Amino acid sequence: MPRIVFFSIKGGVGRSTALAATAWSLAQKGKRVLVLDLDLESPGLSSALLPPERQPMYGITDWLIEDLVDNGNVIFESMAATSNLSHDGEIHIVPAHGADHGEYIAKLGRVWMPKLQVDGTREAWSSRLDRLLRDLEKRIQPDVVLIDSRSGIDEIASACITELGANLILLFALEGEQTWNGYRMLFEQWLRAGIAQQIRERLQVVGAIVPELDRAEYLAGLREHSYEVFVDTLYDEIAPIKIGEVGRRLDGTWWVGGLSEGWNFDEADEAAPHHPWAVNWHRSFAGLLSLQGRLAAIDTQEVKSVFGALIDGVSNAVDGRETP
Ligand SMILES: Nc1ncnc2c1ncn2[C@@H]1O[C@H](COP(=O)(O)OP(=O)(O)OP(=O)(O)O)[C@@H](O)[C@H]1O
Ligand SMILES: [Mg+2]
Repeated sequence: MPRIVFFSIKGGVGRSTALAATAWSLAQKGKRVLVLDLDLESPGLSSALLPPERQPMYGITDWLIEDLVDNGNVIFESMAATSNLSHDGEIHIVPAHGADHGEYIAKLGRVWMPKLQVDGTREAWSSRLDRLLRDLEKRIQPDVVLIDSRSGIDEIASACITELGANLILLFALEGEQTWNGYRMLFEQWLRAGIAQQIRERLQVVGAIVPELDRAEYLAGLREHSYEVFVDTLYDEIAPIKIGEVGRRLDGTWWVGGLSEGWNFDEADEAAPHHPWAVNWHRSFAGLLSLQGRLAAIDTQEVKSVFGALIDGVSNAVDGRETP
């Protein structure tokens, strides 16, 4: 079951909108989609996909709190709802909080706490969350799980990327120094922690809300800066040997230059993780009062023109093909 995480260094870059459109599109193709709003500090995804009367009673925050006192199963059955936007497939949504969000802010202070076990050991929040995810996957049996992650470069945001067993991690990026400095810090942190190698092959940069004006130049700049960060951090250094080059080693044996070893890509390689999948700015999504209303009236062609590259990439990942 592929898990796909939608992440961004900065907030307000159209991540939840893109996730909702992706869920809509996958469901349109007959997929069973499970959507989780893990952006607990800035939730919004469930209201984008569900009208108020369909909001479930509880959300992820309630479960994380109840689980601390072994009460998680009491609310487990009442924390998912199906969207009425799905046609051929189904979209199941687990919100950050329930319809009655009474004590939400107070609860937020405790969600990331470890759980004290009977044997005195502690279970980290990330493994508690993984337990919830596995139970939800077992119950709902989705073809794919889409996770709206917390944004930023703090430890919790980083763990949402590295510890949720995601097959594909989408890194939303607006062009600008703040974005690239942020990603550089995050990647360097993974290098220091020794987890860069296991995570890097699942990464993919997404160009967030790409402007209409000078689109090609904008994307070229985005690609260049993204490449710089990947080359400096996650890509292996390329051995200075050309394919077909022949030489003799000190011990007398011969070598022939083949494919360069190591994990690296050309700047222009469209299949490279640094090469952005573009989500286009479109006036019909700017400053929306209700994304739910917008998606209810949208058609496939419109979704394709704004989110096409992202949806194709995600669909390929779900169907197990190579990403384009
Ligand atoms: N493709 C788009 N074209 C134009 N405007 C967009 C597009 N996608 C999103 N927006 C607008 O940008 C704003 C932020 O969108 P959204 O809530 O999806 O971002 P986010 O990254 O999830 O933000 P947050 O960090 O608050 O969760 C909204 O006003 C939305 O209507
Ligand atoms: Mg959001």
